[in-house]
Amino acid sequence: MLDTVPEISFMEYLPQHGEPVVRLHLLVVDSDAAVRSACAEIADSLGYVVEIASDLEQTRSLLRGRTVDILLVNLPAGSSRSLDLIAESKLLYPQTAVIAMTASGSVNTAVEAMRCGAADYLTKPFAMDELSAVLERASRSLLTDTATRQLREQLRLSQGLGAMIGRSPEMEKIYRILSKVAQSTHPVLILGESGTGKELVARTIHAYGPNAQKPFLPVDCGSLVPTLIESELFGYVKGAFTGALHAKDGLLVSAEGGTVFLDEIGELSLDLQAKLLRSLQEREVRPVGATHRVPIKARIVAATNRDLAAMVEKGAFRKDLFYRLNVVNLRLPALRDRREDIPLLAAHFLERISREHGRKFTLSDEALRTMMRHDWPGNVRELENSMERACALSSGPILHLGDLPTQLQQRGLEARRAAVLDDPDGKDGDDGAADVRPLADLEREAILHAIRTLSGDKLRAARLLGIGKTTLYRKLKEYDIADPLRED
Ligand SMILES: Nc1ncnc2c1ncn2[C@@H]1O[C@H](COP(=O)(O)OP(=O)(O)OP(=O)(O)O)[C@@H](O)[C@H]1O
Ligand SMILES: [Mg+2]
Repeated sequence: MLDTVPEISFMEYLPQHGEPVVRLHLLVVDSDAAVRSACAEIADSLGYVVEIASDLEQTRSLLRGRTVDILLVNLPAGSSRSLDLIAESKLLYPQTAVIAMTASGSVNTAVEAMRCGAADYLTKPFAMDELSAVLERASRSLLTDTATRQLREQLRLSQGLGAMIGRSPEMEKIYRILSKVAQSTHPVLILGESGTGKELVARTIHAYGPNAQKPFLPVDCGSLVPTLIESELFGYVKGAFTGALHAKDGLLVSAEGGTVFLDEIGELSLDLQAKLLRSLQEREVRPVGATHRVPIKARIVAATNRDLAAMVEKGAFRKDLFYRLNVVNLRLPALRDRREDIPLLAAHFLERISREHGRKFTLSDEALRTMMRHDWPGNVRELENSMERACALSSGPILHLGDLPTQLQQRGLEARRAAVLDDPDGKDGDDGAADVRPLADLEREAILHAIRTLSGDKLRAARLLGIGKTTLYRKLKEYDIADPLRED
């Protein structure tokens, strides 16, 4: 089905805003001192960082030390050495834009220069605005190339796309599809378990799309009653129902060219499914209580954690609507199927929380190991909540096993126990050895019990346990007990 989506060049979906503010480096090469300094002065006033060279030797030695973005080089008619320089610099620095200056009438030289890799040429004598136009053309294409490269890099190497974190192959695949579909206005259906990032993906599609400045309007089909969804989506006329004091546009209309995000689409009633289908087919809606129709141009992105195809089989979801929404579908992987992203996601959330709290948080090795083994039924949302909880509970900068939610702690403790019980000789079969508990476990319990019984009086607890205060503190740390009174 994806084949229906046109191939899109990276350039086209560059974010519109946030043009990079960079000063490009320009090297002017000319044996004529007057030309050199005139060019340098003009370029400097245009904001370039300018250097000059009077001959090819000087140019070569300058270029050995660093790269320049634009090379403005004089080409005396018939000079093969200058042509060599152009070819050479393109070979060494393919990113550098070369502009050749040629004497009037030497069209051949200009053609030769272009053949050797020059991007543009200027015929001498030239006016100031000719020079600035040529420089601007070169820098614009350089910046676009750079931005394109950066975006491609971001897609390929970085932690994710836009606000999305993850560089597992599963997520890379999502980014690839996402960056393609963003440019089109086809409907997209996002599937995935709860907390896998369906809404984030919907927002990313919108943000990278051609109508990013238009509104993104979410509608939760799962939590609104049907009549409310209907008036939200399609709008209503004055007096359509009690309380409709004024006419109101539906979201499908007010989105204009933007995106309407139909969240939990699987919960939509059959009656509303029929109405939605009709408006998508006819590209117009009939507001509640109206006799007229209003045109719509919203893009539809829908999401669900239900198995829509199965619902279609059972007659709970309209097949025709399913096909219309499912032009492109994105199936988001569960977190347990992309465990390598867990440390990245955790670091991302901890960084945000650290910023908000003004305190730095990191995970202990054991906590992270336990997180890597956990199945995360609530996916990224569960991970995010766990990090928030852990930071709120933790007394220090390091988040220990004891700061994680209970199920994770249990997993961690099981792992500890397994490590202690690890029995290479296989002696503990069904002989009751499973009841044997590691000393460390019993010790942890004894410590917790003592402190709790004494309502948190650690000094007395230590005395009654027969250990020193320092030993008790060391053991509390060792067993990841951050708050003995709250620990389970
Ligand atoms: N790849 C990701 N990178 C960074 N944050 C993510 C990622 N995926 C999800 N999140 C974050 O996890 C939380 C849950 O994501 P989101 O609300 O998009 O999931 P959902 O699939 O819509 O969940 P639900 O089915 O429960 O509505 C959000 O705070 C979101 O920002
Ligand atoms: Mg959601």
